[in-house]
Amino acid sequence: MRLGWWGLACAVALGACDGGGGDAGTMDGGAPAVDAARDYVPEPFEPTAETRAYCAGDDDAIEARITTLLGQLSVAEKIALMHGVGTAVVERTWLVEGNEAYGIPGLHMLDGPRGLSAFTEANGTAFPVGMMRGATWDPALEERVGAAMAREIQSVGADVLLAPTINILRHPRWGRAQETYSEDVHHLGAMGVGFILGVQSEGVIASVKHYAANSIEDTRHTVDVTVDERTLREIYLPHFRRAVQDARAGSVMSAYNQVNGLYCDLNGHLLTDILRDEWGFAGFVESDWILGTHGDGESVTAGLDIEMPSPTEFRFMQRALAAGEITEPDLDDAVRHILRAQFCFGLDTRERVLDDPSARETAEHLALAREVATRGIVLLRNEAGALPLAPTASVVVVGRNADVENIGDEGSSDVSSSEVITALEGLAAQGTSVTHLTSSALSAADEATVAAADAVVVVTGLTSDDEGEADIGAGDREDLLLPAAEIALIEAVAALNPRVIVVLEGGSAILVEGWVDDVEAIVHAFYPGSQGGHAIADVLFGVEAPAGRLPFSVPTQEADLPPFDNTSPGVTYGYFHGYRHLDNEGLSPRYPFGFGLTYTTFAYANLSLAASSVAPDGSLTVTVDVTNTGATRARETVQLYVAAIGSRVPRAPQDLRAFGQVELDPAETQTVELTVPASDLAFYDVDASAWEVEAIEYEVRVGPHSADTPLRETFRVE
Ligand code: GLC
Repeated sequence: MRLGWWGLACAVALGACDGGGGDAGTMDGGAPAVDAARDYVPEPFEPTAETRAYCAGDDDAIEARITTLLGQLSVAEKIALMHGVGTAVVERTWLVEGNEAYGIPGLHMLDGPRGLSAFTEANGTAFPVGMMRGATWDPALEERVGAAMAREIQSVGADVLLAPTINILRHPRWGRAQETYSEDVHHLGAMGVGFILGVQSEGVIASVKHYAANSIEDTRHTVDVTVDERTLREIYLPHFRRAVQDARAGSVMSAYNQVNGLYCDLNGHLLTDILRDEWGFAGFVESDWILGTHGDGESVTAGLDIEMPSPTEFRFMQRALAAGEITEPDLDDAVRHILRAQFCFGLDTRERVLDDPSARETAEHLALAREVATRGIVLLRNEAGALPLAPTASVVVVGRNADVENIGDEGSSDVSSSEVITALEGLAAQGTSVTHLTSSALSAADEATVAAADAVVVVTGLTSDDEGEADIGAGDREDLLLPAAEIALIEAVAALNPRVIVVLEGGSAILVEGWVDDVEAIVHAFYPGSQGGHAIADVLFGVEAPAGRLPFSVPTQEADLPPFDNTSPGVTYGYFHGYRHLDNEGLSPRYPFGFGLTYTTFAYANLSLAASSVAPDGSLTVTVDVTNTGATRARETVQLYVAAIGSRVPRAPQDLRAFGQVELDPAETQTVELTVPASDLAFYDVDASAWEVEAIEYEVRVGPHSADTPLRETFRVE
């Protein structure tokens, strides 16, 4: 059981973190219980449209039941429902105790965004990392992944999945880039919604994280992110709003960092003004682990409901009550959020399964992991017909990751998988001649082998030693480059054989300058999960045509991106990053956001807008014909960007506003229909504290990626 920094932080910070089973009500030096006689009448609660929409059950009956319980539970009993029990998993899950006498089941939480947490010591399907799933641009597929992960954590008794991570990829050096889906707000929101719908379709509560503006690892516990209100609203929050309003996420996890001078657990603007009052979130807010809670009463009044994983701060709650810093009705609000989640998800009426190995790493889940990995691989370069390889091609495999079980970060998102198919194993399973050269210093014999091969596959990129969660993983990346030894290896084999295919494994952008023109093909394979080797081989040998599209930009140099500061105590996040920054600065990326090749070509025609103007509360429907003009069946992701013309505020030159997919046989044409709600075009007017859809002209741009949108039409919002 990896305690890592948590155990240390706990011991150092407070010496007595482990809440044991005791409730926090009696842990602050035995202060007298406030509730000598229970003559307490809780405030009545009127169900709302939001609580009813949140609740899978009969919300009116559940709210009434909660009101009754709030009149019966003592203060100490209420506080005991508001925190985890200790810095270690209990029977494989992070436990928030219930109260059996009152039929309250409690909560049993587990990571993570890539499958069953390695903290359980049980094996689970290691799915491709979130960023690879983002590269599939398929929310419906992501819904299936969410449902599969939910089934696997339920098989060890968990009912809360600490996922998805949807912090926007502001910069590719962020250590946890692999966990999220995208650098773009719209794409990120669509993928996160898909995942949450899948998880919750199995009755598991998704805890969407980390709210908010958590995009640096090394300073994550303290960094103060200064972000202006418009940037916060338009860039760092919309995907959380969609998680709450479109997917009805059962829970939100507040982030470690500060936003505009206040830690997220103390940040009433984030947790109450926006999350509760504007978005109508009806579930519970839990802190991030150990160092994610900075107060007792003041955290609860700001909007935090549960301290995880133990009552480091909440053990002083009785003191806060006695000092009048918080009232029992304030506690009742938090307890109601916690009980609503438990009862609305039916945790009180469901028999928890403590161990069902038959639900883990099933043939269905492994096949899904392989399907997603295959769909997520992005073909970046393919010259001289290098790919697909002929089925009989003899292949030499080199590179640091060739035979590495490279499934991603060893932090909280880690998964223990019974087997991991490496790239080498996947290539060998194709049945062709595969020779693995393990030394990066090629001998004369090696050089002859390389020269004689039909193709050389260099499986390289990053590993969990280069990027991951801070403290229990590798933290942020030092740069965006391949290790120098790997570049030297690429150059060495390229000097011997023109047919060099580079497979890049890594959580986000890896620069290719300096060697890109010396190789014929490059694919980005992320951290492709337990079936990743088969997926890589399926794509390289053309069993499947590559369908992945980049969920991030690959610049020609790091200097083209906004600076990444993972050392200063305070940073400022601007309105622009990723393709929106590059477009705004007039900088061309090596590979644009949304880019990806395949084994055929597509033609776009007949862009048609259903109307030339739409109402501010209306939607624009757009159709376009896509034709497969090559000889191989393949999938295309049609992307729709919008440029605001004459806006009264600074805007990005264009923003992704819709996307869709189509799979076409050779010579087949299909019409793709996309919808753009006018409200998606709004900007946040800070002076008015309101969203405004400007009555101006907008240009719709449709094509295969952000730098190739050949079809353009304009429309107006009335
Ligand atoms: C970690 C992570 C969070 C994870 C939690 C429990 O510190 O920030 O994503 O869910 O603790 O492992």
